[in-house]
Amino acid sequence: MEIDVLTLFPEMFDAVLGASILKIAREKHLASFRVVDIRDFTHDRHRTVDDKPFGGGPGMVMKPGPVFEAVEATEAASDTPATRVLLTPQGERLTHDLAVELAAVPRLLLICGHYEGYDERIRLGLAPREVSIGDYVLTGGELPAMVLIDAVVRLIPGVLGAEASLDEESFADGMLEYPHYTRPRVYRDMAVPEVLLSGDHEEIDRWRREQSLRRTRERRGES
Ligand code: 6GU
Repeated sequence: MEIDVLTLFPEMFDAVLGASILKIAREKHLASFRVVDIRDFTHDRHRTVDDKPFGGGPGMVMKPGPVFEAVEATEAASDTPATRVLLTPQGERLTHDLAVELAAVPRLLLICGHYEGYDERIRLGLAPREVSIGDYVLTGGELPAMVLIDAVVRLIPGVLGAEASLDEESFADGMLEYPHYTRPRVYRDMAVPEVLLSGDHEEIDRWRREQSLRRTRERRGES
């Protein structure tokens, strides 16, 4: 998968794209990243990317020009058709199902905004999907873009070691995970549940299902 990121803060992506699973995905040639500075597509001396809102009001608005030009130049860097995604608190909520959907496209182009909002022509003219990571306001779309990239890239076949573990994990079936234990058997007076040491795999599966169910009920309601 090709992933393009358009941002005013390209340096924010260095650490996240250069570590852990995303680094491995890139090394395995399962994902490639292009991080583009929107400010490189300004034409004035001050490299202006925002302006005051028509009609007045607080805050600044992201200008359409640099974003349109950055999208067009970046898309021209490859023949793969891109799915455009605008990160905005007003977007569709990022869920496991949306991550699965996005993991199936050949190319994502993520647009990260800052300031109070985007000039509406960015939505009208570029027709991006709009995605939010939850109902709280962040100062920009960069952290949400990184969250989206992490959630999507780990679903690309071959990125994670144990393929089978994907179907079993939290949210694939709408259930939260059961508790995990490793050595030592007792730590600070807290013992590993006997059933996990029993070697009885039917009993272990039953216990894990019960724990999953209880957690989901207690923490998410229903079930
Ligand atoms: Cl995508 N952007 C911003 N600025 N804040 C958010 C968000 C996105 N998702 C949740 N909060």
